[in-house]
Amino acid sequence: MCGIVGYIGNKHPKDILLNGLKTLEYRGYDSSGIAIKNDKNIQIIKSVGKISNLEEKINNTKLIESNMGIGHTRWATHGEVNLVNAHPHQVGNITIVHNGIIENAKEIKDKLMNKGIKFKSNTDTEIACALINYNYNGDIIDAINKSTNELIGSYAFAILVKDKNMLYAVRKDSPLLLGIGDNEFFIASDLSAIIKYTNKYILLDENEIVELSDTYRIIKNNKIVKKEILIADVNDELVSKCGYEHYMLKEIMEEPVVLENTLKPYLDNLNLLPDISKYKEIHIVGCGSALYAGMIGKNLLEEKANVKVLCEVASEYRYKNIIYDRKTLVILISQSGETADTIAALRKAKKYGIDTLSIVNVKTSTISRESDSRIFIEAGKEVAVATTKAYILQAAILSLIAYKTALKRKSISDKSILNEFRKLPKLLSEVINRDDYIRIAKEIYKSSNVFFIGRKIDYSICLEGSLKLKEISYIHCEAKEAGELKHGTISLIDNDIPVFGIITDKDIADKTISNIEEVKSRGAKVIVITNIELNKYDYEILVPKVNDFCQSLLVVPTLQLIAYEIAKLRGCDIDKPKNLAKSVTVE
Ligand code: AGP
Ligand code: GLU
Repeated sequence: MCGIVGYIGNKHPKDILLNGLKTLEYRGYDSSGIAIKNDKNIQIIKSVGKISNLEEKINNTKLIESNMGIGHTRWATHGEVNLVNAHPHQVGNITIVHNGIIENAKEIKDKLMNKGIKFKSNTDTEIACALINYNYNGDIIDAINKSTNELIGSYAFAILVKDKNMLYAVRKDSPLLLGIGDNEFFIASDLSAIIKYTNKYILLDENEIVELSDTYRIIKNNKIVKKEILIADVNDELVSKCGYEHYMLKEIMEEPVVLENTLKPYLDNLNLLPDISKYKEIHIVGCGSALYAGMIGKNLLEEKANVKVLCEVASEYRYKNIIYDRKTLVILISQSGETADTIAALRKAKKYGIDTLSIVNVKTSTISRESDSRIFIEAGKEVAVATTKAYILQAAILSLIAYKTALKRKSISDKSILNEFRKLPKLLSEVINRDDYIRIAKEIYKSSNVFFIGRKIDYSICLEGSLKLKEISYIHCEAKEAGELKHGTISLIDNDIPVFGIITDKDIADKTISNIEEVKSRGAKVIVITNIELNKYDYEILVPKVNDFCQSLLVVPTLQLIAYEIAKLRGCDIDKPKNLAKSVTVE
């Protein structure tokens, strides 16, 4: 589910493939490789670990003359991380790279093994490669069609064929696009991989086969398909750290600006936001941080607008027996718009004829395209694997939707809240430019366990704070509803165990304070983040007090920055945490 880049044209593909793979690095990967081709040979070079390892290996290898090639960063799903399992894979005439998972790989493997075909790797990809090769008798389009008809699962394939001076690609449930240059063509799983060379591209739809030579053809069901050529804004795709040590820090620092850009049109005209007040029930679905942003929305919609909301993780939602017995809207939240489970949840809702609304960052993404309506957050490109600015914008849009719904349903009438939304970017800027986070990070970074406790919306904030810290610092973190602690988790509390207490909901503040006292009396090192001046704890961060719709947006950035500082003190690879990928395009 990591990255693919492919090239055919009049240049040697080496630099184009390497540059593309380096750009895709941010998505997370464990190994990488390239295959380059000429009339006679296909040369494959692979490496485990960083792209710089691959680059070194390529630079120390005598490369064949070539004008086409394919490259891959792997995020292992089948078979351990090693050189044999790294892509490209080659069986007979076919060399491929693959993003995705082939679910019926075992059955196909058994079938092919019965026919005497042998396998070198433990990957599902090699099985798909062998299948295409098995079906190939000179007509590659036919072989791809036959094979994809048999494959179950998700795939983006870039394919080289020994006896053809062409490059092929096909996709299903895994992103892939065709880049169009001057007498040259590109294949990429992400536009950023090729934006240096072209900003003209075509989005490929399910099972469209691309054939590239000195021209391009897109074929589906044996018919040529005409597709719109899209033009990307180069500035959106070209990103740098702008002097910051990490993308994560840069992206946190961008939060005030992107928040202003995202909210402005709606604050000028609330009618531009969809009216969801007609629905009897809302389902909010996403994964990871997107889900936790959804939890903020759920809290506000329930508390302020009296709407029934189910907020469910997409990987569960897609398989559960969801009872759609009232007029329901399903809201899908996704930064990338390509998260496999969220796509599946969207398709499930559509299958039942339920209205769908997506909140996405990547405008051309599958979720954006397939949902009935969409709201774009204007985060710009988010490179760090740990989301920061996109989460804030997702939560902000949901907060504003909750506010609009509450107004419509007449459960509130306070119009001044809009003004506080307008002031948010400035307040957020003050919050992220404080320097007391480092002091707290220094107190915590050697810990092995950290807890976050809060109630209601504060618990939702805890979930995101805990996820952020664990994913980039590798410290075990747990978020708990403050009142639930004494039903088990409190047994883990010991001397000097850091416990973050989040208190922004004044109605429930005393209750959370009691729970904080319970852990404190068991020796915990308590860090309180609050909008109420408590002056009670050694580590207390006071955030500006705003209305309930806006409050979480000033608390989560403090947790993002504390997580960042802790990960830095621990010497972690902050932008590319181990085992994680930016866009989870497999189940
Ligand atoms: C957050 O920091 C994550 N790495 C992860 O939880 C992410 O939010 C999740 O995978 C959903 O991604 P999406 O927004 O692109 O769908
Ligand atoms: N399933 C394939 C493998 O494990 C592809 C993984 C990927 O998308 O990188 O090799």
